[in-house]
Amino acid sequence: MATASREQWGSSFGFLAAAVGSAVGLGNMWRFSYLTAEKGGAAFVVLYLLFTALVGLPVLLAELTLGRGAGKSPIEALAHYGGPRWKPLGALFVATGFVILAYYSVIAGWTVRYALEALTVGMPADPGAHFGAISEGLPAFLFHIFFMGVTMLIVAGGVTKGIERVSIVAMPMLFALVIGIALYAATLDGAGAGYRYYLNAEISNALSMDVVVSAAGQAFFSLSLGMGAMLTFASYLPRDSNLPAEAVTVALSDFGVAFLAGLMVFPIIFALGLQNDVSDSTLGALFVALPKAFSSMGGVGRVIGLAFFIALIVGALTSAISLLEVVVSATVDGLGWTRRRAVFVMGGLITGLGAAAAWSLAILDVMDQVANNILLLVGGFSLAIFVGWVMPDPRGEVEPGSPGLGWFGGWRFLLRYVVPVVLAIVLWHSVPSTAVNLWKLVTGEG
Ligand code: PHE
Repeated sequence: MATASREQWGSSFGFLAAAVGSAVGLGNMWRFSYLTAEKGGAAFVVLYLLFTALVGLPVLLAELTLGRGAGKSPIEALAHYGGPRWKPLGALFVATGFVILAYYSVIAGWTVRYALEALTVGMPADPGAHFGAISEGLPAFLFHIFFMGVTMLIVAGGVTKGIERVSIVAMPMLFALVIGIALYAATLDGAGAGYRYYLNAEISNALSMDVVVSAAGQAFFSLSLGMGAMLTFASYLPRDSNLPAEAVTVALSDFGVAFLAGLMVFPIIFALGLQNDVSDSTLGALFVALPKAFSSMGGVGRVIGLAFFIALIVGALTSAISLLEVVVSATVDGLGWTRRRAVFVMGGLITGLGAAAAWSLAILDVMDQVANNILLLVGGFSLAIFVGWVMPDPRGEVEPGSPGLGWFGGWRFLLRYVVPVVLAIVLWHSVPSTAVNLWKLVTGEG
């Protein structure tokens, strides 16, 4: 049972804004676009959509059910339903939050820098060289510290006065920006080639296991699943909230923004003939190709570029907040610390770990791969087993506020059989290939 003193969201829109804010972020705009380019366009998008619907959505509802039911942070929530031997899984969630936030904030730092530059000096004249200069080393570290500082201040404010207050302003703003830029992109001559590339599924592209692994990892990352972020936010929900409806709304909004991001990125890049800059895409490609496009559009490009990077910052901030909240709420519940102390100590440690990602793009890339292709998938697999098989009465916990329970059997079937089997297959492939990449990094053959 939730303790009487636990904070609760001020309104149901507040929860939704925070949960959509967690889901929508760099994953939808930067990661989704670069993976779509790297993994062969629409075929990847189709797979990603399938994973979102059949694997992501059931796990999302599982996290919401656990969080609201226990009214506790991840480690305590798992122990609440499964006993103390489930605490290590909660600890894995917290560790995953640590790793993701450390490199996520470095990328967010790049976006802050690009936005500031768009405002003051315009888009860089030579974006490739510029990206090389700012993405690693001290400049990257300083912007990372700044971004972590803002995130920490908001989380220190608490659930309603910090997180909710920021999210209800940030999310509508992000949607307006993304829709506005996608509409503008549609007016460009030559946008059609971008749409064709983005929307024409060449199904054979999706048949490699590497693409399947990336689509699964992306579905989890984009929905903030497998590390307790949604669980933690749901722990501040009142008992009468409609969990299935919340889950569907979050998943649709998240997919919607990713889809719109493709509708802004690909037409802009193709209209300006820059497709070769992204076809051999790496994680930096968007930070090179898009500024190139913006700068060749002149004054309008500067405005659109600024809007684009502001949208990225807003998305990144509300996601970073949720990552930090997982670590902070677990520390507050587990060690009995005050929120402020947890924010400053844990936030400080995460900032320190981020130094590694700021120091080298190769390290950042490996942290991203380990988190997405292993940690989140292990987390999702375990959550499905936990709610499908271990938790005593998931039906009783998900029921309050739900409109009927006709879907319950289907949900349980997915959690019990489909999600674990699919994720086991994916992990079977992703663990060795990620280990090889890690090995290459360590031995310097990368
Ligand atoms: N979902 C966020 C994004 O797409 C990233 C994230 C992952 C946030 C895991 C919280 C937890 O950018």
